[in-house]
Amino acid sequence: MTNILVTGGAGYIGSHACKALKAAGYTPVTYDNLVTGWQDAVKFGPFEKGDLNDRARLDEVFAKYRPAAVMHFAALSQVGEAMSEPGRYWANNTGGSLNLVEAAVAAGCLDFVFSSTCATYGEHDNVVLDENTPQLPLNAYGASKRAVEDILKDFGAAHGLRSVVFRYFNVAGADPEAEVGEFHRPETHLVPLVLDAVAGKRDALTIFGTDYDTPDGTCIRDYVHVCDLVDAHVLGLKWLESGKGSQVFNLGTGSGFSVREVMDKAEAVTGQKVPCNTGPRRAGDCTKLVSGSIRAVTDLGWEPRRSTLETMIADAWKWHKTGHYEA
Ligand code: UFG
Repeated sequence: MTNILVTGGAGYIGSHACKALKAAGYTPVTYDNLVTGWQDAVKFGPFEKGDLNDRARLDEVFAKYRPAAVMHFAALSQVGEAMSEPGRYWANNTGGSLNLVEAAVAAGCLDFVFSSTCATYGEHDNVVLDENTPQLPLNAYGASKRAVEDILKDFGAAHGLRSVVFRYFNVAGADPEAEVGEFHRPETHLVPLVLDAVAGKRDALTIFGTDYDTPDGTCIRDYVHVCDLVDAHVLGLKWLESGKGSQVFNLGTGSGFSVREVMDKAEAVTGQKVPCNTGPRRAGDCTKLVSGSIRAVTDLGWEPRRSTLETMIADAWKWHKTGHYEA
């Protein structure tokens, strides 16, 4: 079977990607330093512990498995933390990715699928966010990811690296079979925090800002189911395998939901109230991030199947109730 090196395979999205890769006939080889990932989530292929900034370890793993491609998920991904500790974001997300790209090129592994983010776009009033929208990130998280996109372009031109870059909107939900799910420590993402509040694992959800220029005053995001997201990655791999060139794709549904709408839907799905209070805006947050592109659908053949708010919350709730998840 074809090996695929999956950095961050012990994390939320990476573990779902490993499941999808295995189902598609690949062997996902997880490379993860377990700083934010957890080893129990590595269920679908071999595990190699290692850091992106450890070049000798990366060389060893490339030599051992001779992967046909890299799927690069490993990253720090909290906007708030990126505002207070930007150095860690540049060192890990950008420096670590540069190291990984250099190791891949040295090993002759030239197909590369990269997790980028809509946070690279920043604030654009009333602009449809498509892949050609200028990237003006508001935080070091987005900036550190944008820089990796530049690295991939340069290595493409100089060394023939072929890359598929996915700019994720807000990923939510969990494997409907609940083999893997979302698990961050500390948790900062809206959907699991809402479910924590419902389950009484925290006192209340704090809504970060109610004075945004949106219909209900709370931020609007485009939520995409993690299983749909990783399906796009398998299609991205096949895109590269079939010899198509480097390309960038937004991964969002094009529908935006406010923080309050997410809470309302969670109440409908769980049948319970979401205890909440309101707080100030969180630094680094954009008012509205909604995809305005269907390139992934038209060019890649992506068909999101589970990305309704209701299904995302229901699948996340199912995972929550397995007990694997602890706040
Ligand atoms: N929010 C709250 N209260 C909370 C947590 C979040 O009101 O306790 C709000 C945020 O202010 C934001 C929305 O809920 O308006 C979503 O916040 P998340 O933290 O769940 O997600 P972000 O939009 O900040 O960012 C996430 C990931 C990033 C990624 C980005 C876009 O954290 O890695 O989506 O893909 F880049």
